[in-house]
Amino acid sequence: MVFVIQGTQRGDEGKGKITDYIAQKMDIVCRFQGGNNAGHSIVVNGNRFALSSLPSGIISSNITNIIANGCVVNPDALIKEISTLKEKGINKFNLLISNKAHIIMPYHIDLDGAYEVLLGNESIGTTKKGIGPCYMDKASRIGIRFCDLLEPEYLKKRLTTALIIKNKELEMCNKPTYKFEDLYSHLLELAKILKPHIVDTSIVLNEAINDKKQILFEGAQGTMLCLENGTYPFVTSSSPIASSVPLNAGISPKNIDKVIGIVKAYTTRVGEGPFVTELHDKVADNIRELGHEYGVVTHRPRRVGYLDLVVVKQACRLGGIDYLAMMLVDVLTGIKSLKICVSYELDGKIIDYVPSTISEVTRCKPIYKDFCGRDEDISNINNFYNLPKECQNYLNFIEEYLKTPIAFVSVGPEREKTIIKKDIF
Ligand code: IMO
Ligand code: MG
Repeated sequence: MVFVIQGTQRGDEGKGKITDYIAQKMDIVCRFQGGNNAGHSIVVNGNRFALSSLPSGIISSNITNIIANGCVVNPDALIKEISTLKEKGINKFNLLISNKAHIIMPYHIDLDGAYEVLLGNESIGTTKKGIGPCYMDKASRIGIRFCDLLEPEYLKKRLTTALIIKNKELEMCNKPTYKFEDLYSHLLELAKILKPHIVDTSIVLNEAINDKKQILFEGAQGTMLCLENGTYPFVTSSSPIASSVPLNAGISPKNIDKVIGIVKAYTTRVGEGPFVTELHDKVADNIRELGHEYGVVTHRPRRVGYLDLVVVKQACRLGGIDYLAMMLVDVLTGIKSLKICVSYELDGKIIDYVPSTISEVTRCKPIYKDFCGRDEDISNINNFYNLPKECQNYLNFIEEYLKTPIAFVSVGPEREKTIIKKDIF
């Protein structure tokens, strides 16, 4: 079976935790887009792991972890992430990197920061990891790929070509330029370390599909951050929607069996852009503290708001979501009255979709349904029907509204704090 994990909101929905949980039943976990802008936290046996480039199956030693062609990878950051894992005792893992994945170069990081400064008030609030500039070079056909690391003479040509343009751009941004020799020798060093991991991962994945292996594609970011379908320009530079898996991993669209939509029980956003259900009150502060809503990558406090089902409905429509995983449900403990946004009012009209332009989204007013909160600690409950009635009502409403069954309910960051509502395996 081939499963896809899709974030249904704006990232940080808890994809890492659920991927790690499901990974125990998988042969392969594969990241198919994004880079180290992602921050996926996993708690296993009391140890917290913060993953950015690595797939969240990496903690389970018997799994093949793949970084597919649609990803962009900062090799220095990846090597650092691997050594952090080793320091925490995770020594045995199987990691494959697509030879077609693009390399985030130091100049991409410089330019990411420079563009944000130039944009001033119009900045996106990126993670400044060089993601956008790396994807730009991919589309401009001056990117450097992992397969280039394996052919030093060709790499020379690629880097020379890239630097003609990149150094000009850096000069225009008043940033220091790069010397070919410095970057080239560093890339050759990286090649020595990473060579055993670099393969054509599309072949590996297709063989695994033919052998009927269990495969999980782990999306980073969330639907509203999708370059194609999100709230452009306040998006990332790749597509986290299930439909981008085939292209970004080199498999057929016919091979995807089930899509799991990851839904945080409330909404958060990091970076700029409209946020219809955003709160600026005590409720937001409480949720931020209880949910540790600070960026894993940038440590920025996340913007917080009520659950917006207009957004999640759009994600279900775009991704063909089969099952939902409800995450961070425990965080809503102690919040007296809860609201769920069920539609928007736009210029006097009621709509149930996210409009395409930022000016329209900014004019949208949320229409809420009220729910009773609860005080009980639910973090030790392991059966859906033992959850407080208020909590069940909240979740049942989501299921009915989205016409999509809930398979998982997460009541804490640890693996074992996962309620199975529907067995999907
Ligand atoms: P995970 O996988 C939340 C946001 C950034 C910014 C916009 C563009 O942890 O859910 P970028 O650096 O990608 O060019 O920034 O996208 N963003 C995320 N927000 N979770 C993420 O990943 C994100 N990755 C990028 O804050 O608004
Ligand atoms: Mg994150």
